[in-house]
Amino acid sequence: MGKDQYLSEIDAAFGGWEAEDFTIRHKIRETRILIASDAHLPYVDRGLLAQMRRAIHRYNIRCVVWLGDLFDMHKFSSYGQTDYSLTWNKEKEIATNIIGRIAADLRENDGYQVISRGNHDYRWIKKLGDHEGMMGLVSSISPELGVLLSKGEIIVSDNPTLEGVPDANGKMTWLFTHPAQFKQPFGTPSQMALMEQMNVASGHAHHFGITRDPSNKFWSVETGGLFLDKSFEYVQRNPSTMRRMVSGFWVIPGLDEMPLGFTNFGDTSKGGDNE
Ligand SMILES: [Fe+2]
Ligand SMILES: [Fe+2]
Repeated sequence: MGKDQYLSEIDAAFGGWEAEDFTIRHKIRETRILIASDAHLPYVDRGLLAQMRRAIHRYNIRCVVWLGDLFDMHKFSSYGQTDYSLTWNKEKEIATNIIGRIAADLRENDGYQVISRGNHDYRWIKKLGDHEGMMGLVSSISPELGVLLSKGEIIVSDNPTLEGVPDANGKMTWLFTHPAQFKQPFGTPSQMALMEQMNVASGHAHHFGITRDPSNKFWSVETGGLFLDKSFEYVQRNPSTMRRMVSGFWVIPGLDEMPLGFTNFGDTSKGGDNE
């Protein structure tokens, strides 16, 4: 019996079924990208959102990547529900309005948004019995977001790790991720840059900064986030010596260009924008 015959008989035993391939990463084939992690809607820094809109126009951004934790899922979460002023309908209304506003900005550049999964988004998915992915989550927020999904103005990624910014040969030069764990400053993006041999931007830590990886070949970025930290009761009322959170976002203006950082406390790099 030939080798291929053995294998085809094995394949036949599966009757056409294939296990889901969780290694697949969405590839963003754009070179002008804005990275916005950890917005935690509706607990978002409104001034930073305004700066972000200005940057979308100034840098002709083609793709905004909400790199995890776009939704706080405050009212939906079984823990951490401490803000009694917010209703579930209000949370959905604000999310719809903000995403719709950014969609209108991006439309002028023929651009689109990518919403990738963070641990907070996944809280909701688990509440839905894990039968839904990010597509089900976003489309359940409002009919308006369903329309943006169907038009391709919103793309979702259930994989918290994505790639983007292709070089001339189509090879992706950046990895974007919302990791599951916290590490020492720049620990996650620097170690991932070495492993993956790519520039890395990572969210989740709510810290903001840029350095080079240990091989000095790649950028290592902590994305900060669009969150408003004074709204997090569990942060403000449980004093600790953990690093202070710093919110902000990043613009990747082109292939092989240094990312530009924007924060809510002024210039931190040549990309600072206090207008
Ligand atoms: Fe977060
Ligand atoms: Fe997170």
